[in-house]
Amino acid sequence: MRILVIGSGGREHAMCWKIATSPKCEKLYCAPGNGGISEIAELADIKADDVKGLLDFATAKKIDLTVVGPEVPLAAGIVDIFTEKGLRIFGPAKKMAMLEGSKVFAKELMKRLGVPTADFRVFERSDEAVSYIETRPAPLVVKADGLAAGKGVIICKTKNEARQAVKDILDKRIFGDAGNKVIIEDCLDGEEASIIVISDGKSVIPLASSQDHKRIYDADKGPNTGGMGAYSPAPVVTDALLKKVLDEVIDPVIKGLAREGMVYKGALYAGMMITAQGPRVLEFNVRFGDPETQAILPRLKSDLVEAMERSIDGKLDGYNMEWDPRPCISVVMASGGYPGDYEKGMEISGLEETKKMRDVRVFHAGTKLGQRSKDAGKLFVTSGGRVLNVTALGKDITDAIEHCYEAVKKIQFDGMHYRRDIGHRAIRRT
Ligand code: AMP
Ligand code: GLY
Repeated sequence: MRILVIGSGGREHAMCWKIATSPKCEKLYCAPGNGGISEIAELADIKADDVKGLLDFATAKKIDLTVVGPEVPLAAGIVDIFTEKGLRIFGPAKKMAMLEGSKVFAKELMKRLGVPTADFRVFERSDEAVSYIETRPAPLVVKADGLAAGKGVIICKTKNEARQAVKDILDKRIFGDAGNKVIIEDCLDGEEASIIVISDGKSVIPLASSQDHKRIYDADKGPNTGGMGAYSPAPVVTDALLKKVLDEVIDPVIKGLAREGMVYKGALYAGMMITAQGPRVLEFNVRFGDPETQAILPRLKSDLVEAMERSIDGKLDGYNMEWDPRPCISVVMASGGYPGDYEKGMEISGLEETKKMRDVRVFHAGTKLGQRSKDAGKLFVTSGGRVLNVTALGKDITDAIEHCYEAVKKIQFDGMHYRRDIGHRAIRRT
């Protein structure tokens, strides 16, 4: 098969790496990809949101399967457009991508279906939103309805912060049209976990559980980021808890959508808060998580391409995926200044060293190939905020963590920083 992966982050590098190991994969392309991906796939210089450009490319190259990494092309309806042209593509159609593209759509669906989530109200006018805030106890969470590159959620410790967040979104329009509506919801307390499943519209298979680390600094301090590291499995997700999430969240949503005429194919990601009262949905994503995927796929023994084909063909019933029992962790190495402004073009050293290490893989996110004389080997330079995902398996979580940070220490670039406590919650639980 000729396979095209869309995206340019660490998630897409991990997907390309896994897909390339499939006996079904004869030729792999990635658009637009990154420095690390260029070592295993042929890159096409087409942006992930250029649906027309991607369609022309997939048609010209006779692509047999397209795999979409990020949410933007899914929300733009890439699956509908490819499918209409007879091209096979893994992911949900536009209407269902609304689960991520509109938080209001997702919350209202959950309410209709009785799926456990924080109590909420939706507002289009800031005066009404502010009146509501007076009636609720702080802390509160204010969310912009639409896609805001992961920045549309504001956790407000005080009512004053909540009033400010509402005005910023609805009046100052800091997220543009993504902030036409806001959700104000109760703040939940607990430990977070990511449950990702692959669905064919009738049956689902869960991937191994995982946990992200969203804050920039150790001990979960500082601003939110796109994710600074992940590990899998998440010990907070016991078998019983997973069953509860499948029964109370995933199954009702897939069946509920089907009743409304929507057959959900692709990956469905439930971001959960495990509260003292039980699991509650924080958000849905309609794709694989980043950086969770980087910690999940090294543990997957089964063929990812087969699972994706079964999703498209409606043949997941009875299918099972096999997992390496060993835990895996992935640490993000970021550019100086990230998640704020940062410089690009820093030379990265030490990557070759890590290739000699057993059970270590470095997935690239913001890197590209730099210039170097032919005999001096490849040079990678930084080209984004999150630069690398250093990933390691270990016999237990402590071993995986030690092994991973040994690899991290071999890598250098000017201004780099990373969290030193990825996996701390897992250690506390084991
Ligand atoms: P989202 O973009 O919806 O995933 O939200 C980003 C992050 O905000 C989540 O991973 C949580 O850490 C936090 N969050 C969102 N909603 C809530 C909530 N109701 N209570 C507490 N934290 C929340
Ligand atoms: N790790 C969070 C996300 O993929 O949205």
